[in-house]
Amino acid sequence: MGVLWDTVNSSVRYQSQCQFSYQCGVVPLLVTGGAGGVGQELVLRLAREGAKVVVWDLNEKALEKVKTRVEKEDYKVWTFPVDVTERGEVYKYAGIVKADIGPVDVLINNAGIVCGQTLLEIPDYMIEKTYGVNVLSHYWTTKAFLPDMLKKNNGHIVTVGSLTGLLGTYRCTDYSATKYATVGFHESLLVELKTHGQDNIKMTLVCPYFINTGMFDGCKPKTLDMLEPSAVAKRIITGIKREEVFITMPAFMKYVLPLKNYIPAKLSWALMYRVVQGPQAMMGMRSFNEVEAA
Ligand SMILES: NC(=O)c1ccc[n+]([C@@H]2O[C@H](COP(=O)([O-])OP(=O)(O)OC[C@H]3O[C@@H](n4cnc5c(N)ncnc54)[C@H](O)[C@@H]3O)[C@@H](O)[C@H]2O)c1
Repeated sequence: MGVLWDTVNSSVRYQSQCQFSYQCGVVPLLVTGGAGGVGQELVLRLAREGAKVVVWDLNEKALEKVKTRVEKEDYKVWTFPVDVTERGEVYKYAGIVKADIGPVDVLINNAGIVCGQTLLEIPDYMIEKTYGVNVLSHYWTTKAFLPDMLKKNNGHIVTVGSLTGLLGTYRCTDYSATKYATVGFHESLLVELKTHGQDNIKMTLVCPYFINTGMFDGCKPKTLDMLEPSAVAKRIITGIKREEVFITMPAFMKYVLPLKNYIPAKLSWALMYRVVQGPQAMMGMRSFNEVEAA
């Protein structure tokens, strides 16, 4: 009953108010990996809605690009070259953001990387790097910004996971495992906040299918077309406004993927290989660029 009331209540508020704290441009909203495919779309859309958007990304050239893109439309954006795997750097820049722009209201943990190789091919340092970007960074950014959210009794933490965090797949031992970890991070922190009565800190987990950003270049999905980054960004923003806890893209995956728990593992594998052809889709995937990664 309570769950039903929460759902109805949040959708009623969504329809009637349509005003969210970040849209007033008073409190900042931060996107990690905000210079990438999905990130840039998020940043642009949020800036258009009147948000004060802070972008953290490792790639300085891409940061310049997103800044130019946003400023071309006469909006302002705050960009910082931050490596989210570096704990000290995260805490340092969090202090700078807080002092110069304000305490962050909405944190979108979006930065991510993938190797695209089989387990024995992935260099050890890249496995560590994938864990650093895709999971550990969530701990550093959340520890940096959650205390202010608790003080204000208001905030929102968005975790960008993946459908591979709900179903392991070929050439993804690093990526998929880290995305499973993001699910555990999201669910556990949600439980922690709720148990402490900190209901005004919202949490949203987003698990998309392939997105056409280049991250999975060379993959040829057999059953569904890749998602477009602008559609994913739009859905994430809607999810924030509706205070949705768990989003899959496409939506029906939320209901289909758990079926693997109800059928024999051998049947699950046969469906994966012969019907969905998941492994085959991944076979042409580019592997990461050693020079860029080093
Ligand atoms: N592309 C897909 O098919 C797909 C599918 C499901 C989920 N996702 C997830 O969506 C999110 C966005 O992915 P995308 O497709 O836009 O990828 P992308 O490669 O276009 O963007 C990722 C961004 O993260 C940044 N980044 C990487 N390491 C960083 C670090 N150490 N510090 C700071 N920034 C760093 C990159 O510079 C890049 O700008 C990721 O979390 C990804 O795992 C992607």
